[in-house]
Amino acid sequence: MKKIEQETGSIYMGENCWQILDGFISEKHYSNIFILTDTNTHTHCLPHFLKKVTNINSPIILEMKNGEENKNIDTCAKLWKDLSDKKADRKSLLINIGGGVVTDLGGFVACTFRRGIDFINVPTTLLAMVDASVGGKNGIDLGSLKNQIGIIQSPVCVIVDSQFLKTLPIEEINSGAAEMYKHGLIASEVYWNTLKDFNASSTENIDDLIWESILIKNKVVTEDPSEKGLRKTLNFGHTLGHAIESFCIENSNRKRLLHGEAIVIGMILAVFISSKNNGFDKNNAAEITKTFLEKYTKVSFERPEIEEIINLLIYDKKNSHGKINFVLLNSIGNCAIDCHVENNLIFEAFDYYKNF
Ligand SMILES: NC(=O)c1ccc[n+]([C@@H]2O[C@H](COP(=O)([O-])OP(=O)(O)OC[C@H]3O[C@@H](n4cnc5c(N)ncnc54)[C@H](O)[C@@H]3O)[C@@H](O)[C@H]2O)c1
Ligand SMILES: [Zn+2]
Repeated sequence: MKKIEQETGSIYMGENCWQILDGFISEKHYSNIFILTDTNTHTHCLPHFLKKVTNINSPIILEMKNGEENKNIDTCAKLWKDLSDKKADRKSLLINIGGGVVTDLGGFVACTFRRGIDFINVPTTLLAMVDASVGGKNGIDLGSLKNQIGIIQSPVCVIVDSQFLKTLPIEEINSGAAEMYKHGLIASEVYWNTLKDFNASSTENIDDLIWESILIKNKVVTEDPSEKGLRKTLNFGHTLGHAIESFCIENSNRKRLLHGEAIVIGMILAVFISSKNNGFDKNNAAEITKTFLEKYTKVSFERPEIEEIINLLIYDKKNSHGKINFVLLNSIGNCAIDCHVENNLIFEAFDYYKNF
């Protein structure tokens, strides 16, 4: 079994992780146990969970509708009411079974119900396994503004079982894999090189790859819990990636991109900008771009659209005092944070992406 044991938010992966969960539950003597799923994880993931865990007697199942559009205060209000109606008290446990939407929202509901009850995350998407479940950020959206309301608190533990990925659509696997590539580029050339052969259509033998990502993210967030420096490196590819994601949501004629699909474009642009601004090796930039374009479809942007995307950058949550801060690469596995980038170079980067 793979494990990271720490004061809060211990993470377990592999066959025996379910025994750990069983042991944990019997030790804690919870007054009652609630399980939160979304529409899809209720069907695809809850049966596997209930088969694996033997120590939960008559859990109370709560369900939310799937999708980012439901990661809001209305869903929380309904769940707080459900918890209250079903006699949850301060010694109750909430187990979140789902992707990042369920773990983010369920964590927030647990942290706020009666000033906080224990919660456990069981991530069922690749993105939630390698990213959303690590680092203790819980929260919800405010209208179209993502993750505006929230709280930082780790779950009592995280249980990672890649068996859940068997029913996850391939686009969602690819979207989560983007964050794994990001972890390689910002922290480990060896990991990046291993990932180049990753094939999203087969998730057999994926545990080691997932675990490496979890280790990288966990190391970054434990070394810089308050986001003063190192944690900002997790934003690599996200400055332009978020703007592209928002642009596609706001323009109904555009195909909506999954988060990871937008981040891949952001990473290609950032790699080019790194080669111009930070002396990042041009051959490496080309090799990274080629790797991504073999796995993710190219998206085209016209000049006025790029202007709109650049205008959206000022809304990026990582900006401060009106300055746009980029994370760039000095080399694979070595980042520079708070880099200032001129708009001209952003246009050049879009040209590079278009003509590659
Ligand atoms: N807290 C953090 O640090 C952090 C980090 C990254 C992302 N996030 C958040 O995570 C969210 C995105 O998470 P996501 O990509 O997991 O999306 P998601 O939770 O919306 O899941 C994607 C889709 O897959 C379905 N699904 C989940 N597991 C399944 C399975 N095993 N089989 C079949 N279908 C399944 C879901 O119902 C959903 O329709 C965003 O809200 C983002 O803000 C949080
Ligand atoms: Zn991301």
